[in-house]
Amino acid sequence: MSDVYICEVGPRDGLQNAKHRMSTEAKQAWIAALARAGMKEIEVGSFVPPKLIPAMADTGDIVRFARGLPGVKVVALAPNLKGFQRAVEAGAHKVTFPVSASHAHSLSNVRMTPDQMVDEVRKCAELAPSGVEIEGAVATAFGCTLQGEVPEDEVVRIAERLAGFCDAVAIADTVGYANPAQIRRVFRRVKAAIGPKLEAAHLHNTRGLGLANALAAYEEGVRHFDSSMGGLGGCPFAPGASGNVVTEDLVFMFESMGVSTGIDFAKLLEAREVLVRGIPEEPVYGHTPVAGLPKTFRAAA
Ligand code: COA
Ligand code: ZN
Repeated sequence: MSDVYICEVGPRDGLQNAKHRMSTEAKQAWIAALARAGMKEIEVGSFVPPKLIPAMADTGDIVRFARGLPGVKVVALAPNLKGFQRAVEAGAHKVTFPVSASHAHSLSNVRMTPDQMVDEVRKCAELAPSGVEIEGAVATAFGCTLQGEVPEDEVVRIAERLAGFCDAVAIADTVGYANPAQIRRVFRRVKAAIGPKLEAAHLHNTRGLGLANALAAYEEGVRHFDSSMGGLGGCPFAPGASGNVVTEDLVFMFESMGVSTGIDFAKLLEAREVLVRGIPEEPVYGHTPVAGLPKTFRAAA
């Protein structure tokens, strides 16, 4: 049992926005290396029309491969019922749905209003076979490049609707607008509204506040975090979106604080090498992998 749970979203959020393509074999090698490092939850891809995001065309094969890795919860993103059916057929353990609190981003991303999208997720939840977890992720919860302001009341309202039938609700800073004070306020409000159904913080490091925001969420009681190896990531349908909080730096932060992640840092760096070999032209980010661990570093017990 670890103190916090990290879901590696690089194979989905990272590769959907990468300029270069990673082969199916290279994705599999990377996901296997992530599992060896102790990653217990991996968002391995999305079930979207292959014409829209060609990098996600092989997600069915990737899900089937990842299911063979012992102890890994295999997560896939779906934008609608058809994507959900494909995810279930491939054997995903958990399906996450992007439900934008920004009306403009919702239309751009899934061509549905936020409320239409909530209804779509409800349909999927009603059809979900037992054992398949449903996560509603409230996207653009801290502001939106298309719409600007996203009212906090709207974030709480969408989260409440999703909590009515989802197993878990995540709050996402899709375009990296959030600051720690805002994180504390919004997570506190949503927690007050939906209690333990509030699970993950999905944070982007677009303006360098990824770790500060993760720590603020941790201090509000959040124990599930999405992050991306090498800081890859971003939504192709949200202008200006860039990478997620960097997994390697997030693991270093928590472990050095004495908060266990269940992840072995040396093996995490090996997985980073596998990632770089699989997509050598794509820039990767992160401070700790470049500087190395401090000599005084002790992993959390
Ligand atoms: N997987 C594969 N094919 C799908 C699909 C899915 N999940 N959903 C729809 N399609 C197919 C339809 O069957 C149809 O095919 P056809 O032209 O051969 O008949 C075609 O795609 C268009 O379907 P439609 O329902 O009209 O979809 P749309 O064009 O309105 O697009 C979404 C709606 C939701 C599918 C699309 O906006 C989407 O995938 N968004 C997600 C974007 C994303 O991944 N963002 C980043 C993550 S947050
Ligand atoms: Zn994201």
